[in-house]
Amino acid sequence: MELDNSQKQRSRDWFGKTGKDGFIYRSWIKNQGYPAHQFKGKPVIGICNTWSETTPCNGHFREIAQFVKNGIYEAGGFPLEFPVMSLGETIIRPTAMLYRNLASMSVEESIRGNPFDAVVLLTGCDKTTPSLVMGAASVGLPTIVVPGGPMLNGKFQGRDIGSGTDVWKFADDLRTGKMSEEEFEEAEACMSRSAGHCSTMGTASTMAVMCEALGLTLPGLSAIPAVDSRKKMLAHMSGIRAVEMVKENLTIDKVLTRSAFENAIKVNAAVGGSTNLILHLLAIAKRMDVELNLEDFDDLGSKIPLLVNLMPSGKYLMEDFYYAGGLPVVIKELSELLRKDSISVNGKSIVENSAKARNWNTEVISPIATPLKKEAGITVVKGNLCPDGAVIKISASTDSLLVHKGKAVVFETIEDYHARIDDPNLEIDETSIMVLKNVGPKGYPGMPEVGNMALPKKLIEKGVTDLVRISDGRMSGTAFGTVFLHVSPESAIGGNLALVENGDLIEVDVPNKSLNLAVSDEELKKRKVNWKPLDLGYDRGYAKLYIETVNQAHLGADCDFLVGKSGSEVKRESH
Ligand code: FES
Repeated sequence: MELDNSQKQRSRDWFGKTGKDGFIYRSWIKNQGYPAHQFKGKPVIGICNTWSETTPCNGHFREIAQFVKNGIYEAGGFPLEFPVMSLGETIIRPTAMLYRNLASMSVEESIRGNPFDAVVLLTGCDKTTPSLVMGAASVGLPTIVVPGGPMLNGKFQGRDIGSGTDVWKFADDLRTGKMSEEEFEEAEACMSRSAGHCSTMGTASTMAVMCEALGLTLPGLSAIPAVDSRKKMLAHMSGIRAVEMVKENLTIDKVLTRSAFENAIKVNAAVGGSTNLILHLLAIAKRMDVELNLEDFDDLGSKIPLLVNLMPSGKYLMEDFYYAGGLPVVIKELSELLRKDSISVNGKSIVENSAKARNWNTEVISPIATPLKKEAGITVVKGNLCPDGAVIKISASTDSLLVHKGKAVVFETIEDYHARIDDPNLEIDETSIMVLKNVGPKGYPGMPEVGNMALPKKLIEKGVTDLVRISDGRMSGTAFGTVFLHVSPESAIGGNLALVENGDLIEVDVPNKSLNLAVSDEELKKRKVNWKPLDLGYDRGYAKLYIETVNQAHLGADCDFLVGKSGSEVKRESH
């Protein structure tokens, strides 16, 4: 006889079993002090926790998880919290992006292999969001995201400072003597003064916004600061909602439709979000078998106005954004441009959810009639330097450099750049174009955030604030500049970027979406004959697997064998 469970729940295949298998599944859960009535027949909700002391942005997640549990219990469910690989952007070497796909595997298999009917994903620091969503997408259960929230605004010497964005500025000031070592060190604690992820519209905020725009969170959740009590309340409500989603069979594929992805691209443009969104959204779409390509980001996003005045594109920080009304205000402003045929985790469209939003500070969120910039999304360029595309964030660029011709100053690796950038004899001026090779998915490996190479000290001292920079790497969402990123194919596999030489003329024409090396095809062919890939010395382990299987940036840089879904069914018993 099967144990009680009137609904078709996945967890029934574990806790509802008779005989030896059922005994084992239940007995070892009881050892944690749970009486049978607490989990038998109840929807079992997994709480996927990325808490780790090596991921400081997610350091408050044990507390958040408790509020999610409270909600699950209240709604009649049974929570089981589980850890997955957690990626701390600021600490892990060589770059968190190398491990995004590995973390997504740990999420996918942890969900598939355990008796969950739904999952709550606790996300925060940059890669913890896409890795969790990618893993959950490949399984397909009802899924709700609770973003951990940004830090409070940094405060230093009487002004607000933003995570990342001001680090780049302080580092330049230190190099040029405008800031002392003591002030530099003092700024560390002033910048990161509470729990939470980066306070700018960097990648973590972009990812939280992406989840809300996709419909994966309860409305308004993405901007709430980590330490605000309303974060805990909505974590509690998310727990309740996860249980309801099981009863409604509201699986992730019903939320993550093509319309949802279109909305996420448009919303990202309006908030001035990170270029990293492209890689992560492409990878998530490919896990869902949703048709999405690099050109969609330009077609759908590049004409969207910039509404949110947050660093690095603007002036304010996430805390200000929340007090101004947060993402629902942006969604309401964009409502005419958004798809309304997708549903979010509460069963309504994001537009419906935002109908009553009010803008409390038009300095922080501009009405669509008076945007900060008329067209501000990410532009995709192509040309012989990037036949499969490269991207540039217009809102963070210098307008006068968007059409430009200049001579290449080439750095073969990031170490070469560090060694020579402040060499007084480096031939570089304000018209030059900095080119960095071997920082792509396979070439580093893992596409580090080094594309926004700092300018040479001698140019900063002359008052130069921006140069065109080109690489196959990424840029921190907190960074800024006229920076072309994600060049595909990358230099490590012999893309034309690998063939650029010092002094070559490069032609930038963003309005016409082109990026070209003014070198003949014949000459490039000759150079290719002599080109050799770098020996990275990875001959074992995950990095070897990654290098062998990672897709290029224009495909989302997922490993080829992870694209698509496995589903939630695991037929074989463990005993
Ligand atoms: Fe974690 Fe910026 S370092 S969000």
